[in-house]
This record gives sequence, C-alpha cells and structure tokens, in this order.
Amino acid sequence: MGDFSSLGLSDWLINQCKQLGINKPTPVQENCMPPILEGRDCMGCAKTGSGKTAAFVLPVLQKLSEEPYGIFCLVLTPTRELAYQIAEQFRVLGKPLGLRDCIIVGGMDMVTQAMELSNQPHVVVATPGRLADHIRSSNTFSMSRIQFLILDEADRLLEQGCTDFTKDLEVILGILPAKRQTLLFSATLTDTLQELKSIAMNKPFFWESKSETRTVEELDQRYILTPETVKDAYLVHLIQKFTDEHDDWSIIIFTNTCKNCQVLTMMLREFNFPTISLHSMMKQKQRFANLAKFKASVYKILIATDVAARGLDIPTVQVVINQNTPGLPKIYIHRVGRTARAGRNGVSITLVTQYDIHLVHAIEEQTQTKLKEYPVQEKEVLKILTQVNVTRRECEIKLESTDFDEKKEINKRKQLILEGKDPELEAKRKAELEKIRNQKKKFKQRIQEDIERQKFGQKKKNFMKHQQMKKKKKAVQEKA
Ligand SMILES: Nc1ncnc2c1ncn2[C@@H]1O[C@H](COP(=O)(O)OP(=O)(O)OP(=O)(O)O)[C@@H](O)[C@H]1O
Ligand SMILES: [Mg+2]
Repeated sequence: MGDFSSLGLSDWLINQCKQLGINKPTPVQENCMPPILEGRDCMGCAKTGSGKTAAFVLPVLQKLSEEPYGIFCLVLTPTRELAYQIAEQFRVLGKPLGLRDCIIVGGMDMVTQAMELSNQPHVVVATPGRLADHIRSSNTFSMSRIQFLILDEADRLLEQGCTDFTKDLEVILGILPAKRQTLLFSATLTDTLQELKSIAMNKPFFWESKSETRTVEELDQRYILTPETVKDAYLVHLIQKFTDEHDDWSIIIFTNTCKNCQVLTMMLREFNFPTISLHSMMKQKQRFANLAKFKASVYKILIATDVAARGLDIPTVQVVINQNTPGLPKIYIHRVGRTARAGRNGVSITLVTQYDIHLVHAIEEQTQTKLKEYPVQEKEVLKILTQVNVTRRECEIKLESTDFDEKKEINKRKQLILEGKDPELEAKRKAELEKIRNQKKKFKQRIQEDIERQKFGQKKKNFMKHQQMKKKKKAVQEKA
C-alpha cells in the first residue's frame, strides 16, 4: 500500500490527515484519488466504513487549494445527518485553507441558508429536496462554475424509493455546468450503474473493491428466529446482556416505522436503558440533538428508522440490531455497516420471524455470507416475556393518547403542500381510488361466487345423474 504523497496530495493535507489518525490510504482512496486528481469522473464502490468520504474530500481540497473560489464543489447526499457529517470532514481536513462550507438541508431555516449560499462558500453539502427548493425560489447564488459534483450514497439518490429524489436532481443538474467532474460513491452501486453513468458522462473511471462478500469480514452476522410476539422480549434480553457485559458499547436498533421507533424507545426507557430515537417525524433540531447525544455516548442506545441506515460514522457502535428483517438486502448491508467500521469489530443481530425467512435467504445470497444463529437462553427470555409485552402495550396506549398519529397526518399534508399538491384534492383522489378498488374487489368477489355457484351446479347435476344411473341400475337388477 502506498502513502498519500505518492498519490499526489500536498504536505499540508497529509499533515491534516495524520492529525485525524489517517496515515495510510485505504484501497478505495488509493485507487480512486489518482484518477480524480487527473480530472476524471469517478464511480467508487467500496464496503461500508472503508473511507469513501476521504476518497472524495481529499482530492477536492487539493484542487481547491490550487484555485480557491466559491462555489467550487457541490455534494449531494440522501439524509440531513449525513450532510452534516460530510461537511464536518471537509471543515476539519480543510481547516488550513480556511474552508467555507454551507449545509443546505430540510427542516432548517431557509432564509439563513439563502444568505449563506449567496456568500459563495467553497463547498455546499445538501440534500436534494431543499437545494432544489432554493433553486426554484431564488437567484441569489450561482452554481454555474462548480468543478465538482459529488453524489454520496449515489444509488439511493437515484432510486425511486419512498423519498424520491429524481425530480429534485433534475432541477439541480439543470443549473450545473456540463464541464465538471462528477464523483459517485456508495457501498452498493452495482444495480444502478446505468442510471449513474448518465450522470457521470465523461467516461467515468469505475472502481469496485474486489471481495467475495459485500459485508466486512470484521462483522459477526447473526440472526435469532422468533415469533413476532416474543421479539420485544428478545430485544430487552439482548440489551440487558450487552449493557451488563460491556458498559462502553453503543447499540443501534433499526426498526421499520417512526411509530415503532417511538414505542420501542418508550418501552426500553421503562426498563431504564439510556435510549434515544431518530426518525423522520421528529423536528429536525431534535434529530440533530439526539444524534449528538448518542455520538457523545450520553445515550448508549439509538432506535432509528432507515434514515440512519446509510453513511453515519459512529466508532463506538459495537452492535446493530435489526428489530425487523430488512426487505431489501441493500438496506441490510447499509444498516449492519453502522458497526465494524474502519477495521474495527462489530456484531449484527437480525430478529427473524417465520415469515421473513425468504428475506434472510435473499440477504445471504446478495452478501455471499451465511448468517449464524445467535445463541440465547430462551428460559431467560420467557421469564421476562409477560412483563415486556405488558410494558409495550402500556407504551402504545400512552402514545395513542398523545397526538402522534395526528402529527403524522399534519406532516403528510405539509409534504403534499410542499410538493405543490392540494391536500383536499389528494384526499378526494385517495377516496376515489379506494372506491374503485372496493368496486373491483366486489366485482372479483361476485365473479368468484358465480364460478363457485357454477361449479356447485355442475357438481349437483353430476350427483343427480349419478343417482339416476344408480336407480336405473337397481331397477334393472330387480327386474332381472
Ligand atoms: N486511510 C484511513 N485510515 C484510517 N481511517 C480512515 C482512513 N480513511 C477514513 N478513515 C476513517 O474511517 C471511518 C469510515 O470512513 P467513511 O465514513 O468515509 O466510510 P464509508 O466508506 O463512507 O462508509 P459508508 O458506506 O458506511 O458510508 C471514518 O471514521 C474515517 O475517519
Ligand atoms: Mg460514506
């Protein structure tokens, strides 16, 4: 393995790396930095925790130091927390340059952001939605001279998931110069390669870490097969065990919904575990505050939805628990990648019900790793089962008495307004669709009933025929 100077970085930048304990380049850095410094577009696919961020931050800072101006570089990323983390890396490594960065994410004051944008920061780190809003609503800044466009978690930015970034990306790409360097990074690039190539148009240099598995070797991947109703008891048992045995370990628990996040947090707090949550229904400031407290180990347990699945780099995280089995192997790869980073060890435990076994098979096939069963003393789990389930039910009732669902409804309406849709009209459309769906269902049911009736009629006919034949036969036999 070479060192940073042989890759073309200046001494001040190498010194800056050393201060952060970054002494030798990781493979993704060693392989992607030279082509980036040569001016090529680049697509880098390397495992979670392998230093992809520095692989693009360092060359950008190198180039920026040669010709500093703003706005020099735009980084797009799917989540707000990740935007802050990336901006921090730029700020720390670029300190000797007096780097000015600007973070443009949803949930924060737009006027302040607009002012910051107009001050020509060197680097803008943004989530696509909010940046597109700024582009649509003001002309106080220009990105027509940017040198670098970087898409971190590039595959997520291009996929049409529950948060669809594609329209916002179009708006953003519309104001960027065609002559620029485009850098795309993720631990899971491969299934969006075609779409990515259309963004990085200048024959991008493609690098993928060669490895049989898609998760890191230092990660001990486990599962526990459990009925749905015993999941929480396993969870409490596992956390009790880990916190008893290792008081310096931090744990992330991933679950599928914001509501579940909230209920589980309340429940674990009832058991006196230092728990905090992170999900998209929380106010943004609260999200940042909670993550900061978790990072500082004030709280050792974070319950999160998939907003925390990608990119977050928290070295103290020793365990990732999947309270639900992720529906897509890709999500699994990113979730469990929150531990065992930068060569450290880590454990992941996925709670699997009998209905999720096929999901585990898909995960095993994609990651090319076999998940091993996590040994648990079931007697211990059964001992706490009733208490845990009663506590959960109490927490659910408590949550229902707050306005959690109502807030969810309000948030949905806000989102619709932001998307330029009329909530009333949308509600009507939804009701209309539901009506059509119900009609279709009824129609199907009627056809099914008709078929059944016909079948029954046919059976009856056959039966009668059979009976008549029997009678005739009997009569013939009697005559004879
Ligand atoms: N060359 C290096 N030597 C040692 N540590 C490094 C090096 N490069 C980066 N790191 C550290 O490794 C950790 C993980 O890096 P980073 O967050 O960039 O991973 P990633 O590849 O982007 O992972 P993910 O796919 O989860 O986003 C960080 O704490 C970073 O400071
Ligand atoms: Mg990353």
